[in-house]
Amino acid sequence: MAETTPARVAPENRETWTGNTGFILAAIGSAVGLGNIWRFPGVAYESGGGAFLIPYLVALLTAGIPILFLDYAIGHRYRGAAPLAYRRMKKKAEALGWFQIMLSFIISVYYAAVIAWALSYFVFAFDLRWGEDTAGFFVGEYLQVSDPGVSTTIVSSVAIPLAVVWIAVLVVLALGVAKGVEKVNVIGIPLLGIAFAGLVIRALTLPGAMDGLNAFFTPDWGALLDLDVWIAAYSQIFFSLSIAFGIMVTYASYQRRKANMTSSGLVVAFANSSFELLAGIGVFATLGFLAFRQSVQIDELEGLTGPILSFVTFPAVISEMPGGNIFGAVFFASLVIAGFTSLISILLGVAATVQEKFGLSWRVSAISVSAVCALISFSLFSTTSGLLALDTVDQFANNVGIVLSAIVMSVLVVWVFRRGQLLRSHLNAVSTFHLGNWWLALVGIVAPVFLVIMLVQKLITLVSEGYEGLPGWYVGIFGWGTLAFALVMSAILTALPWKDRDDSAFRPWPELEEENR
Ligand code: PHE
Repeated sequence: MAETTPARVAPENRETWTGNTGFILAAIGSAVGLGNIWRFPGVAYESGGGAFLIPYLVALLTAGIPILFLDYAIGHRYRGAAPLAYRRMKKKAEALGWFQIMLSFIISVYYAAVIAWALSYFVFAFDLRWGEDTAGFFVGEYLQVSDPGVSTTIVSSVAIPLAVVWIAVLVVLALGVAKGVEKVNVIGIPLLGIAFAGLVIRALTLPGAMDGLNAFFTPDWGALLDLDVWIAAYSQIFFSLSIAFGIMVTYASYQRRKANMTSSGLVVAFANSSFELLAGIGVFATLGFLAFRQSVQIDELEGLTGPILSFVTFPAVISEMPGGNIFGAVFFASLVIAGFTSLISILLGVAATVQEKFGLSWRVSAISVSAVCALISFSLFSTTSGLLALDTVDQFANNVGIVLSAIVMSVLVVWVFRRGQLLRSHLNAVSTFHLGNWWLALVGIVAPVFLVIMLVQKLITLVSEGYEGLPGWYVGIFGWGTLAFALVMSAILTALPWKDRDDSAFRPWPELEEENR
């Protein structure tokens, strides 16, 4: 492959993004997802409204951006998806890479299901098919939810869009990094920006919009004393920026050797948070309208977070709005685009890992990974037990798994393997925005301390109170079981031999003195 980089950079035959813009758009595509649209507005509202912006910003600056840089540094220097990159940094670290990839794999399986629902609702918007009782329609007619349990009845209204989503994933991945993933983002992200701006402007012109914004932004300062609010802010940031999942490691590994990493990271983080705020404004302006229509206060409305917000509350508002069909179609199309660009980032991480470890060609790996994930996704989420399983898996993978991953990552890299200075030098050597020792202090001390407190608190709650009143065996299988599965699989996969890989010729670039210390 022709390399246009200066001679000092040894040529390599790894595919790359076509340039910085491609990388930035793809990274924004990964970050901006369902988390921005259905997670952030509700979490912010429930966790102190305007006051939530403080823990949110603290989490972004003390852990979000620093750990994003750490992900970038590892992927960019060691040029591999998570397990390979960690292994090249320090052999023993490979297992951590696998743990992150397992979490990604688990998330992909249910994330795809939500995109499939959005795809159905995009179609339903044209004739407002959800009718008057949007909750009954979503849970009953559409998902056909059964009692907690494992059911094998396939719901075809979900299975068909789910198949469409997985086929699209397979095609995009098989086309590769530049021709597939980058292309989708270069087209999708600007489109998403325009669509979403249109939605927000429309929402702001609805009667009641200002009351919605007041409800959203009115600070409840007391919330700042509540540890749970801080936990919510940190997990929101992690999920939203796609960090500590090995995804950003993989993305950075496809960046050219000479590439401005930290400045790109700042652009991505800024874009993601702006989008998140914009979504909060749009969603609450719309809810203000709903409250106005029903002559109630916003705090009397129910279903302001997660799937219920998008698939029950929003359809209800859309039905009441003049021109609701178009608003609805654009809203669900935005959800599909935002979700899809995140889903392909997750699977790119998994496919790249499988390719490297098992010495497969890109195509074979991309196709087999998509096919396996699709099958699992089908068996779990196109059946009548989907909704509950999704919620439980989400809770454990995000609030426990990813926090654990971030703690282990920062402690291992900074304290055990002592690679902090090296990675800082690496980023500074290639980037224009230079990191001082403050970065190491954040990654090595501030972030892990906060995260450990959060994790312990969360575990205490889960162990003592269970989850959402669900039966113990159910939480055991879908909650703790998810984590146990990720841990066991990462141990097994680490133990398997690397096929056809001779890493002796690999040289990190640029050469840095700290390497041999
Ligand atoms: N960041 C995405 C969102 O906000 C979700 C995601 C998580 C993507 C983990 C990749 C990895 O929805």
